[in-house]
Amino acid sequence: MLGCRACHRLSGKGGQLGPSLSGIGQRMTRRDLRQKLMVHNEANAERHMPSYDYLFESERQQLLDRLEQQ
Ligand code: HEC
Repeated sequence: MLGCRACHRLSGKGGQLGPSLSGIGQRMTRRDLRQKLMVHNEANAERHMPSYDYLFESERQQLLDRLEQQ
């Protein structure tokens, strides 16, 4: 999934830099997830989540669909 696993764990596999994405569909709304993908987190500059605002809208919808099922 677009290199998310470099920093996030999903189903037990992946990096440690960011929080695990397991169960993320229960913890965050689609709107919050979308926001997370679009905007850098300024408050957490040294280990922030990269912005994915370059994605096509159709790709973003697919990604949000996947995340909601986690
Ligand atoms: C370079 C490392 C890196 C990559 C690549 C990355 N993230 Fe993140 N992500 C982070 C970090 C660090 C945080 C925690 C700080 C923050 O919330 O900004 C985070 C936070 C998040 C959160 C909020 C989680 C929570 O429990 O609050 C979500 C959702 C998320 N990332 C999804 C993704 C998705 C989806 C991708 C791939 C499209 C991705 N990330 C790629 C580093 C990364």
